[in-house]
Amino acid sequence: MYTRTMSSATLVTATMGPSDVDACWQLDQRCFEGSEAYERQTIHDLLSSPDTLCFKTVTPDDELAGFAIGVVEPEFRGHVVVLGVSPDYRRRGVATELMRQLEDAFRNRSVHLMHLEVRTTNDGARALYEGLGFRVAGRRLGYYTNGDDGFLMVRTILAHDPGRP
Ligand SMILES: CC(C)(COP(=O)(O)OP(=O)(O)OC[C@H]1O[C@@H](n2cnc3c(N)ncnc32)[C@H](O)[C@@H]1OP(=O)(O)O)[C@@H](O)C(=O)NCCC(=O)NCCS
Repeated sequence: MYTRTMSSATLVTATMGPSDVDACWQLDQRCFEGSEAYERQTIHDLLSSPDTLCFKTVTPDDELAGFAIGVVEPEFRGHVVVLGVSPDYRRRGVATELMRQLEDAFRNRSVHLMHLEVRTTNDGARALYEGLGFRVAGRRLGYYTNGDDGFLMVRTILAHDPGRP
């Protein structure tokens, strides 16, 4: 299991597995209340798949503060399926660290292009992704179940990122 202590020294980001299903499902419900929260079975299936890369950020009390799930797709593409941070731990760099870990894991699986969808009204998440180097590559009409459109955002992954230590 890979772990890295964040600069705040109280939160730790690590790989996530099937034993985290309930905590992950509950946090997903909080993060996506009234929108696109996943069924428990879907979270279970994601955390159990060999093609899925899953990371969590936990507090010293082992409370789940955030999570990110990516899927390795054909042609070495990486889909960021879900990213959520507890409302109690936002704006502390948790999502940024989770996305960095996910990017490293994608790189280790030879992924060269990450992609994701973000609701066109989700300005906070879009700002996060743009800060991480993603750019809007298209608009998916009616992508969400309530009919909202999504932006398709993409980011190239270099085999070695010269900006990283
Ligand atoms: C979007 C989300 C994942 C951000 O998590 P986070 O841990 O707070 O993000 P970070 O602290 O790493 O933010 C890094 C930067 O992204 C931008 N950002 C993040 N949230 C933002 C917001 N609500 N408004 C504006 N900018 C925001 C800022 O530039 C921020 O840097 P700053 O805090 O120094 O200004 C979190 O708000 C969340 O879980 N929201 C609900 C679920 C969701 O929308 N997930 C994404 C679906 S595509």
